Amino acid sequence: MLLFLDTANLDEIKEIAAWGVLGGITTNPSLVVREHQDFKKLVKDICKIVDGPVSAEVTATETEQMLVQGRDIATWAENVVVKCPLTPAGLAATKALSKDGIKVNVTLCFSVNQAILAAQAGATFVSPFVGRLDDINEDGCALVEQIVEVFHIQGFDTNVLAASLRGPQHVTRCALAGADCATMPYKCSSNWSVIRSPIPDCRSSSKIGTQPKHKPWQARARSRRRIRVQNKRQAKNEVFAWLRKVRWNQQKFRAQAGLSSLTAICLSSTMA
Ligand code: E4P
Repeated sequence: MLLFLDTANLDEIKEIAAWGVLGGITTNPSLVVREHQDFKKLVKDICKIVDGPVSAEVTATETEQMLVQGRDIATWAENVVVKCPLTPAGLAATKALSKDGIKVNVTLCFSVNQAILAAQAGATFVSPFVGRLDDINEDGCALVEQIVEVFHIQGFDTNVLAASLRGPQHVTRCALAGADCATMPYKCSSNWSVIRSPIPDCRSSSKIGTQPKHKPWQARARSRRRIRVQNKRQAKNEVFAWLRKVRWNQQKFRAQAGLSSLTAICLSSTMA
């Protein structure tokens, strides 16, 4: 499974590319807007850094306009992939672009049947949105599993690009499902437990493998918690000691005076 980064930020891309495991990039209009840069220049710069497919999305909603944008985007770099939404207009554009030999990533896939449509339209990639499905109480990774299985049964060669990943569990489950690629935001990829181990790593001072330092307020909260626990334990011990004394006095009274247990309790508790 190739690991993609879902970002348009050049610094993030350079950092992860330096790890030597960056398989590609996916961008979308909201990620591009955040960078306050010219779209074409930005995509070209990303394509130079990354040795793998870089998805750049069309913004048009009608097929004709998507085709104009898609054909233009396809000329920006050899490794650029045109991203089209999984709508009827997007599917028609995908069909036409792929006929021209242009690679298309069909995005916003939320069901197996939609993935079949994307494959039939000739998409190079289809992007099921795992995290977005989890957000609505569905199992996004299960969708990836099903799409991979159906594509295998049907012999489709469209690549399954698991998208909208949010954490390490998504990465593992999509890999187990047999996804061809998985794209995740920088925050997710720079933190995923594939790299970070739960055991503190003393080997290097580099960011990778080290644990986040505990903040002073966390240490203070921990010691307050410890004191509270100690106090509780001490109070409990005192109560038990008192009860033992009461019981011992009851027995003594009963034995000495042959009193009823109720009277013994009243008398002995005043003596404790
Ligand atoms: C993928 O191509 C998309 O850009 C991306 O994964 C969107 O996911 P999100 O908006 O749910 O984070």
